[in-house]
Amino acid sequence: MSLLNFNAILDVAQQRQFKAIGSFNLHCIEMLPAFFRAAKKTDSPLMIQISTGTAEYLGYKLLVDSVRSLAESENVPTCLHLDHCSDIKAIETAMNAGFSSVMYDGSHLSMEDNIANTRIVVEMARPRNISVEAELGAIGGSEDGKAVAEEDICFTTVEEARHFIEETHVDMLAVSVGTVHGLYTGKAHIQHQRLKEISEATKTPLVLHGGTGVSDDDMRLAVTEGINKVNVGTEMNVQWVGQCKTMFEKGKVNDSVRKFLIPANDAVTNVLMEKIALFK
Ligand code: 13P
Repeated sequence: MSLLNFNAILDVAQQRQFKAIGSFNLHCIEMLPAFFRAAKKTDSPLMIQISTGTAEYLGYKLLVDSVRSLAESENVPTCLHLDHCSDIKAIETAMNAGFSSVMYDGSHLSMEDNIANTRIVVEMARPRNISVEAELGAIGGSEDGKAVAEEDICFTTVEEARHFIEETHVDMLAVSVGTVHGLYTGKAHIQHQRLKEISEATKTPLVLHGGTGVSDDDMRLAVTEGINKVNVGTEMNVQWVGQCKTMFEKGKVNDSVRKFLIPANDAVTNVLMEKIALFK
């Protein structure tokens, strides 16, 4: 089974009565079977996203080969997506390796430069049937260890979003509507009116970044207002590391490492299943 791009995976998700697809950050290769287990248990297609840090750590080829192999053996329609990347060379590496979807993140650039670079990526992607996500506005929090200061958060405007889509024709657009990446001290406040207006103006699938810390009610509502892709990253990391810490503390050095990792992976499966249930 070949990997599907975003449009194809969203089609499968919608055929199975999901309004949106969760895109889950894989933090290490050990977590991978836990993702597939959640998809199987919920009869959901699977979108796995990889930060450039993780791609460099594990290698693009290992990721493509292992995800493709599990998609086939588990019979799960799967999309492999490169998350937040502002380096066009790294995007090309991912495309050449076999990723089926990429994100070019030019949100830190001027509108003109963001459009120009996004277009380059769209031109590279189209002949290969790879989907492209772009970002407009600045989402706060921390991305791959780099912090975005609160004063730099910049909400996406309806007019800018309309203009950006007309100029780039990306497959999906990440918008800044109140979520932030990483752990919250409280719950995020999604700007539902802004979200609905952007969706109406762009008629393009929108992406909610910072899925960790969004309340269940807000999430259920957002997927009826134009959000078709929901990114969740930190929550799996927190569960996995939390379980490992507890297990390692109790363990002995000659215990099988599996004893520590299995509960960690079970916790990750539960996070995915809980999120996926919100998209129905
Ligand atoms: P969280 O880590 O806040 O869930 O955000 C993930 C994300 O948006 C990755 O692009």
